[in-house]
Amino acid sequence: MRFSKGFLLGAATAAHQVEGNNTNSDFWVMENLTHSHFAEPSGDACDHYHRFREDIDYLKNAGLNAYRFSIEWARIEPEMGVFNETEIAHYAEVLDYCIACGIEPVVTLHHFSSPKWLIREGGWACEKTVEYFSRYCQYVVERLGDKMHYICTMNEVNMGLQLASIMERILKNMGISLQVGMKMELPKEQLAGLLEQAAAFGVADPRDIHPFMSQATKETDKLIMRAHAAARAAIKAVNPKLKVGVTLSLHHFDVLPGGEAYAAQEWDKEFMHYLPVIGQDDFIGIQNYTREIIGPDGSLPVPEGAETTQMGYEYYPEALEQVVRKVAESYKGKLFITENGLSTSDDTRRVEFIHRAITGVKSCMADGIPVVGYTYWSLLDNFEWQAGYAKTFGLIAVDRSTQIRKPKPSLLALGSYAPVTA
Ligand code: BGC
Repeated sequence: MRFSKGFLLGAATAAHQVEGNNTNSDFWVMENLTHSHFAEPSGDACDHYHRFREDIDYLKNAGLNAYRFSIEWARIEPEMGVFNETEIAHYAEVLDYCIACGIEPVVTLHHFSSPKWLIREGGWACEKTVEYFSRYCQYVVERLGDKMHYICTMNEVNMGLQLASIMERILKNMGISLQVGMKMELPKEQLAGLLEQAAAFGVADPRDIHPFMSQATKETDKLIMRAHAAARAAIKAVNPKLKVGVTLSLHHFDVLPGGEAYAAQEWDKEFMHYLPVIGQDDFIGIQNYTREIIGPDGSLPVPEGAETTQMGYEYYPEALEQVVRKVAESYKGKLFITENGLSTSDDTRRVEFIHRAITGVKSCMADGIPVVGYTYWSLLDNFEWQAGYAKTFGLIAVDRSTQIRKPKPSLLALGSYAPVTA
């Protein structure tokens, strides 16, 4: 059954993962080191920078009406304080094309990648970044703000804390507990990699490298919230009508007896403690891929025999409904599902995932939860960060040797829910 009129249904991408040649970004630096820990560099990606019209056409032809994509800070401000009007003109074209196709653009202003210069200046651990980020947001909105309604300032503001938890868990499993001031001997290869990275960013000590996608501390987590609040204020000062929010990576916690306290603590870390700031936003971007089972000693591995995705996550589309319900208990604004999906080479599993996930969304809406949109991750098979191109999340396959696109049946499956127009 189709969504009713006004619902926003479509797919999402992020600039660095699809555009190609994001040469002034921190990721470009990290991918191209001799000792890079990336499976491969992003290179031309899906050449979406030049092929965005074709890609947006696929959305339109499937009957979809929303496209979430990001504007790349490293293109707009390739050097500190130097803004590039040609790149603004490029994104104006993308936005105009969406509008001409009847597609609502949902714009993310920062999706993991940052300008290389920002890392040299201290990155996401430096107070000045709050000002740099809001200056960039203001610049974009002054020029492009009248072509959009929805803005996500940042993607997955809780990613840093999640990465820190993962690291803590790995070390715990290895029997290591880190104490402040403790020194660890790094393997030679790893040390060489860190020194190479420091030289490439122009910082003296590798410990001073703080990209957005790195382990957060309580302090850097707060800094990201300050950056969001400052950006929101800057955007609203230009155009108070713009709807501003952030996106969060959220798990559904299935709690076994005895795991309640741990689960509550995790939910606080993942979501609740952000509420004083994001509670003032116009909407929240919910991003969910799977569930986590929590026992008395914490997070448990994927159950034996359960189906998993290429990422190793449990195949569990019902997690989305549970997360939406949980968020709605304490968040009173509008809910936008800005990412949900899976990586698989078997598109029939994606088709089923979409049907089951959307059934859950509809059930939430039937209960009065104000979900305003759903953008599947991702429109295209694209650059999955450290994992490179092997993980395929897309509704459309991309042959990167020719850049030829091939829509998968899942694109039509999503399109079968296209909101009615009359
Ligand atoms: C990120 C995307 C990423 C996706 C799949 C989300 O956390 O926003 O950039 O590709 O998950 O792993």
